[in-house]
Amino acid sequence: MKKIATIIILLFSFTLIHAQNLKARIKIDIERKIGAIDTLIYGNFTEHLGRCIYGGIYDPKSSQANEDGFRKDVIDAANNLGVSIIRYPGGNFASGYHWEDGIGQKANRPKRKDLAWGAIETNEVGTDEFMKFISKSKAQPYICVNLGTGTIEEARNWVEYCNAPAGLYYSDLRVKNGHPAPYNIKYWGLGNEMDGPWQMGHKNAEDYSKFALEAAKLMKWSDDKIKLIASGSSNYGADWISWNRTILTELRNQIDYISLHHYVGNSDSSHKKFMTATLFTDKVIKITEGLINEVRSRYKTDRPIYIAFDEYNVWYRSWVEKQLEEHYNLQDALVIAEFLNCFIRNAQIVKMANMAQLVNVIAPMMVTNDKLWTQTIYFPLQLFGKNCFGESVSAFVDGDTYDVGDQKGIPYLDVSTAYNGSKDELIINVVNRSEDKTVETNIQNQFGMLADKANVAEVNSKSIYDENNEKEQKVKTVSKQITLKGNEFTYSFQPHSFTQIIIKIKK
Ligand code: AHR
Repeated sequence: MKKIATIIILLFSFTLIHAQNLKARIKIDIERKIGAIDTLIYGNFTEHLGRCIYGGIYDPKSSQANEDGFRKDVIDAANNLGVSIIRYPGGNFASGYHWEDGIGQKANRPKRKDLAWGAIETNEVGTDEFMKFISKSKAQPYICVNLGTGTIEEARNWVEYCNAPAGLYYSDLRVKNGHPAPYNIKYWGLGNEMDGPWQMGHKNAEDYSKFALEAAKLMKWSDDKIKLIASGSSNYGADWISWNRTILTELRNQIDYISLHHYVGNSDSSHKKFMTATLFTDKVIKITEGLINEVRSRYKTDRPIYIAFDEYNVWYRSWVEKQLEEHYNLQDALVIAEFLNCFIRNAQIVKMANMAQLVNVIAPMMVTNDKLWTQTIYFPLQLFGKNCFGESVSAFVDGDTYDVGDQKGIPYLDVSTAYNGSKDELIINVVNRSEDKTVETNIQNQFGMLADKANVAEVNSKSIYDENNEKEQKVKTVSKQITLKGNEFTYSFQPHSFTQIIIKIKK
């Protein structure tokens, strides 16, 4: 009798637990291509701010320093992250920066107050030092010029210093400073967040466009191989759509990208709401893509213009007094995976993205003394940056949803899928937004045959509030292999997780 009662209780609890599971369906067809995934979406950013440059990438006193004073552990960790491009020198800092302060004999370089962040800039690191750092990393450089307090001539001189062969005033200066070969820096930003009143030299859309157009002309006449990125929206309280429309209209014949920025936070301490933060990112991308199409068709131009999402991250706890040293938890890592899912789903238009920033300052890695430790957000970034290449392919996702505030029907699963033809690999990236429920998901493949094994990597931890620190790494990637049979399988996505499944496809 006792035995039967136990069995009934066990069966009852099993049914109860099972009934609590959420359900979803993902149908993937690798023939439904969205666009090529540009590896530049795995970019990053280093700004003269807090401990990002000084005490971050550069620290000659550290035992980790190489012969040029750059930390080897930071370079290795960036390479292990798959960082493809690094934006420099800011950010807000760029709008007050005069690049000639940072070249030549270090002893002669001026000390100035950086009005963006209030620190004293020693100019110990400048263009040539940054390029030394870049030469040790696997990333390429991306320079943002000063269109705040700077001049158009200063911007074009910087291009000549970096890219012209010896024989001109500025290229000869580079040679004199010990760098005979041109750096050939391809990507150049036309100012930073010029739509923000917090920006030094902030302008309205018309004034910025006129100024940026003249800078662009001179910069391209100095080197016609460079690619230019216009300063798009970062200030979403204002009329950001007309900002983007004006600059796209006025700069359409010069620019190759429009930059977008978006930072998100969880000030309401609502997990459900926080997990919807990147829906706005998606909206900004879609609207801007529409504006690009509008301008291109109105002016009958075939020149492509893409989106460079060159600042994104979670940032809401640490402002200037804490030097932006944000400590990330598991929730934040899930949001970063959602940002990347969003870029992959919009791969036809988002051709560059830069997490802000690389080290210490709202960053995936922190350094203390001579050690480096990885924050929670390092792990989803790494899975994307190391594995998610090829073509973004569309996935049909159906399943349980939730409501939060005014937002209705938020899918528990946030999904992106890719097909890497060079390896015959299908890559499935899934965030389970639920804090406490597993999502039992039926995954169907519609073109070719799935191999009988899949590699599964999961970023997770016990609690959404778990953080990493110098001593303990609670949030990390755990990998396993699963066995499949046929073209359909069921996978249970764990609560508050990011999962990447990689499967070979036999065509
Ligand atoms: O990344 C930190 C700051 O955020 C950048 O300097 C600025 O561009 C943005 O507002």
